[in-house]
Amino acid sequence: MKMLKIKEQLTVDLSAAKTLEEVEQVRVRYLGRKGVITTLAKNTDFRTLSAEEKRSFGTKLNELKNFAEEALAEAKEKAAAVKHAQKATGLDLTLPGTGKKLGNLHPISLIQLELENIFQGMGFTVVPSPECELEFYNFDAVNIPADHPAREMQDTFWLKNGMLMRTHTSANQVRTMERLGVPLRAIFPGRCFRNEAVDPSHENTFYQCEGLVVDKDISVANLIAVMKTLLGEIFHREVTVRLRPGFFPFVEPGFELDLQCLICGGKGCSTCHGTGWIELIPCGLVHPRVLEYAGVDPKEYSGFAFGVGLTRLAMMKYGIPDIRLLNAGDIRFNEQFPAMV
Ligand code: DAH
Repeated sequence: MKMLKIKEQLTVDLSAAKTLEEVEQVRVRYLGRKGVITTLAKNTDFRTLSAEEKRSFGTKLNELKNFAEEALAEAKEKAAAVKHAQKATGLDLTLPGTGKKLGNLHPISLIQLELENIFQGMGFTVVPSPECELEFYNFDAVNIPADHPAREMQDTFWLKNGMLMRTHTSANQVRTMERLGVPLRAIFPGRCFRNEAVDPSHENTFYQCEGLVVDKDISVANLIAVMKTLLGEIFHREVTVRLRPGFFPFVEPGFELDLQCLICGGKGCSTCHGTGWIELIPCGLVHPRVLEYAGVDPKEYSGFAFGVGLTRLAMMKYGIPDIRLLNAGDIRFNEQFPAMV
């Protein structure tokens, strides 16, 4: 066999050798007493070679030996590492796959990951947020004092230690400003809870994604630009939006952002109940009192906030007719969604 061929064959044999025993067999086959490389010199008729050819043969043979030794040492090291991992974990990573199918991402996870991607592209930080909250952050800090009627609209589950399950991701607004300081651009997606009577469009457990931007000279124009970019990316087309006044204690002015119906283009159809518009994202300019609660001077800074209903968005995007399907944990439902984003 020519040296180049030997090198190639050795590489192939080593890549197939997974265990220490198999690597040793390859070593014997090539470098053992009767091995392919060892016998190479013996089988060569030196009488037919010139002095120059002999020297060149010697050099090449040495190179081949060195190559073989290094490749064998590397394969041995790999096999030893696999053996060690197997011992430590009881897992044999060299076994062939069992052909089982990958799991699926839940539609809420799909939407959440999509939003995170879009917002990260706009320079937002994705901030983790607690589901179990202090009454202060969930209500008082977002300008919902104890006697405010909005508290009743957001009845929730109270814990024995006086904390509560947050009713909205807005609860993380003041926390985030305290933690990161301003200026900031952040989103905090997550699970929220309310003491609701469950029906096809109400759940006691649902998902939102809050957004918060605080900087100097922030205006409604910035808010609209970010919302249009977001919706354009989600629905893969240019969208038309409008703002209607909406009341939320933590924004002033507050809005309901409507999306022109993508099904009928604004003419009116059953999806938009004949209005041509779909109410989609509540939002507004951050109330000065909320900034003050976070220790931010409202004379210097302003901001906007919005609360995307992830559950609602997932239902719209995937045509899910009943909210209860989302928390039912039925594999036949979950399997209908892509395995990856
Ligand atoms: N937290 C509100 C809710 O759950 C939604 C919301 C409205 C969030 C307006 C906002 C906002 O950030 O500006 O009903």
